[in-house]
Amino acid sequence: MRILGIESSCDETAAAIVEDGRRVLASVVASQLDLHARYGGVVPELASREHLRAIVPVVSEALLRAQCQWSNLDAIAVTEGPGLVGSLLVGVTYAKALCYALRLPLIAVNHVEGHIHAVVMECYPVPLPAVALVVSGGHTHLFEVRQGFQYRLLGRTRDDAAGEAYDKVAKLLGYGSPGGPILDALALHGDPRAVRFTLARMKGNDLDFSFSGLKTAVLRWVETREMETEIARRRALTQPALPRPTLQAWLEATPQPTLNLIASFQQTVIDELLRRTARAVEDTGAESVIVSGGVACNAGLRAAAPHSLPAPVYFPTPSLSTDNAAMIAAAAFPKLEKKLFAGFDLRAKANLSLT
Ligand code: KG4
Ligand code: ZN
Repeated sequence: MRILGIESSCDETAAAIVEDGRRVLASVVASQLDLHARYGGVVPELASREHLRAIVPVVSEALLRAQCQWSNLDAIAVTEGPGLVGSLLVGVTYAKALCYALRLPLIAVNHVEGHIHAVVMECYPVPLPAVALVVSGGHTHLFEVRQGFQYRLLGRTRDDAAGEAYDKVAKLLGYGSPGGPILDALALHGDPRAVRFTLARMKGNDLDFSFSGLKTAVLRWVETREMETEIARRRALTQPALPRPTLQAWLEATPQPTLNLIASFQQTVIDELLRRTARAVEDTGAESVIVSGGVACNAGLRAAAPHSLPAPVYFPTPSLSTDNAAMIAAAAFPKLEKKLFAGFDLRAKANLSLT
């Protein structure tokens, strides 16, 4: 069974063809990173315009790479939410039009469920029940995943997502966007114990996260040091006319105390993510842990997770951790088996939740 997956929830236009929910025949991602970089974050209007431009060539490219004809497809799956409504609409409308013209079933997929299936697809069979940590620029959520892909929300961030905290701290320190990969690479060169950040204790659900206090603590640290000159020097490197700085260029523009600050920030984020995930495993008796979403690319998190968690942990390969359409096609496969199809009245849902 071959499913064409389409993903356009944020700033990546993606299409993929996946066979039987596991075999990726092609996965194409057109990133808008460079377009948004000059604005320091994703501009929704520009994102939807870019999706419109990219969607037809990206789907054609996926078919070409998979050596697949329209007639070889059994269904089309599309991200219905959550995400930017104008961006989602492009994928949803195109998928509906294709299904109508080709008389194929349409399958609606939650983007967050897609992230979980990036792992299910690659690490089959993941022992269930599992705890899934979905950690990206838009989400930091803990779910219990039970047999039959039934989900229960265990905890979520009360403010910023972890990826958002990375992006905001990187912007504050004068690095380009997205900040996660840059800070992750720089963190290796700093002392993670140099700056002690204490996260505020929260009342209520012990499995909820909070990252805005940490971001403010970094801001306070910066304000009390004279960092204007080094930050301005780094900002100059991110001008749109210049090529993307290399790691070496960032290292040369980053004094040791700032590298230590970055390493300490990263350590605090990792500790917070893993502490609550370990607690979720203990509370639920889960047999495994799934970590997915853009922040799952983080080298420090990948290295620390197996030692800190009381159950085996599974990460997707980095290209399937960030937004892609193979995960959408994979998540659609159990729905195809159960004939859970969407109608042509399917709408884009910016705030769709998984549970
Ligand atoms: O899943 P994704 O591609 O899009 C969303 O659904 O948000 O995740 C993008 C996020 C960004 O915030 C980016 O800074 C973060 O993932 N990210 C990382 C790393 N690579 C990407 N954060 C920390 N370390 C990384 N290596
Ligand atoms: Zn995502």
